[in-house]
Amino acid sequence: MTRPSWAPEGIDLDRPSASRVYDYFVGGMHNFEIDRELAQMIEKFTPNVAETMRANRDLLRRAVRFLTDAGIDQFLDLGSGIPTVGNVHEVAQARNPEARVVYVDIDPVAVAHSQAILEGNPLAAVIHGDVAQPDSILAAPEVTKLLDFDRPIAVLLLGVLHFVPDESAPAAAVARLLEVCAPGSYVAITHATSDGQPAEVLEAQKLSGRTSTEIVLRGKDEIATYFYDWTLLEPGLVHLPLWRPEDPADVGEHPESSGAYGGLARKD
Ligand SMILES: C[S@@+](CC[C@H](N)C(=O)[O-])C[C@H]1O[C@@H](n2cnc3c(N)ncnc32)[C@H](O)[C@@H]1O
Repeated sequence: MTRPSWAPEGIDLDRPSASRVYDYFVGGMHNFEIDRELAQMIEKFTPNVAETMRANRDLLRRAVRFLTDAGIDQFLDLGSGIPTVGNVHEVAQARNPEARVVYVDIDPVAVAHSQAILEGNPLAAVIHGDVAQPDSILAAPEVTKLLDFDRPIAVLLLGVLHFVPDESAPAAAVARLLEVCAPGSYVAITHATSDGQPAEVLEAQKLSGRTSTEIVLRGKDEIATYFYDWTLLEPGLVHLPLWRPEDPADVGEHPESSGAYGGLARKD
């Protein structure tokens, strides 16, 4: 296919990419026919997947607005995907043009697309990194140049920790990231769960693991430990649509069908 102007050189246009599939699910424009075909196949196995992804992206927007209004002007967004519709720098810089954002993703395709999107934005950058390797992220030149850990910062871990298997020690990695943050900092986490999911959805999820990256579903108590000893803000760790909805109608009748928990905590 012909390379659209937004697609970076060196990207294989004939292979689907998990980041572009996510971009399609959340209503972005950075995806190809091949990505949409895979998205439709995933949707056949797990019909609630699109709802979960949109609920996750909506929570991201609400959390970034909340954080910017609380005076946070720097964000470390881990597992950022393609920063397309309603991305962190767009939402934050609309409220505070001085807001700084560093995006981190393990997928080189997401990083290449992000670099193209962020060109010309001196206050936002993207790096290739693994959330399970926090020290290399903290030492990256883009991070040390744009972010000041002596001041309050927001660490965003939205829809990413369920991609980190137990053997990569996600709790220790998050604890390391939170340890270096100044008091007054925040961490936002969303994580897929098996809690409250009907057996057929869980079965379908196993099947979808064959076509996309495997997800580790964790229970609420385990996800709560990722907030370390920081103070969870109201309403706590809840199904995604229940986290500070802007309109009660957005919650729907079955918020648990989002299949994921989300929460925001502050370092006192
Ligand atoms: C579902 S998307 C979430 C995007 C965005 N954070 C959001 O909430 O809208 C998950 C992203 O995490 C990235 N990812 C998966 N494992 C990762 C890891 N170990 N370190 C960094 N990023 C990772 C994937 O490449 C993907 O882009």
